[in-house]
Amino acid sequence: MSELTQDELKTLVGRAALEHVVPGEIVGVGTGSTVNKFIDALAGMKDHIRGAVSSSEASTERLRALGISVFDANEVERLSVYVDGADEIDPKGYMIKGGGAALTREKIVAALSERFVCIADESKWVPVLGRYPLPVEVIPMAAQQIARRFAALGGVARLRLKDGVPLVTDNGQHILDVTGLHIADPLAFESTVNDWPGVVTVGVFAHQKAHVCLLGTTSGVKTVVF
Ligand code: 5RP
Repeated sequence: MSELTQDELKTLVGRAALEHVVPGEIVGVGTGSTVNKFIDALAGMKDHIRGAVSSSEASTERLRALGISVFDANEVERLSVYVDGADEIDPKGYMIKGGGAALTREKIVAALSERFVCIADESKWVPVLGRYPLPVEVIPMAAQQIARRFAALGGVARLRLKDGVPLVTDNGQHILDVTGLHIADPLAFESTVNDWPGVVTVGVFAHQKAHVCLLGTTSGVKTVVF
């Protein structure tokens, strides 16, 4: 296969994820540019699924525009499959997510689901999590206190801005992006940060890790089962 662009790799894995969608069911849908490719592909089988539970206002809008019904997460007890991208994924299926600021709802929908199918181009594959700045959704009044806790771990936390003002998530909260971390034990790290007052969600997905990764490579889609 000739050299594919990152965008083409995202299209490839977005389409490949259709094989994991269970006909007749509701599918969990993540957020981001890779997931947008999945949503576009899903439109082709919209008459064969009941609909979707979405992880962001942006994905909801795209799903609805393509004629796919969107259910509230509270209407659903269990989903077979959740399809989402990642900012980083390691050889155990642990991920960093939240580049699109949707990490809280992504974790909620992932926790509803039996299987997490991660779709990613090969630039996202890392041996150890921590190269990508770690997103953490926080209650605004706790931001500086949490930033100091990260500093004690050797990290540098910066408030995410949009158009020069703090970005506000779909849940009305702020995002800290933390650099300088080397997350050798993602399960323990996730639990530790979750315990800090004011943390809404940490972007380490270890307890809600991927079961399968469809990795877009220049030689095609590689399926990694964890
Ligand atoms: C959004 C996410 C995305 O899945 C992650 O940022 C990857 O995005 P993209 O597919 O655009 O590279 O976690 O909160």
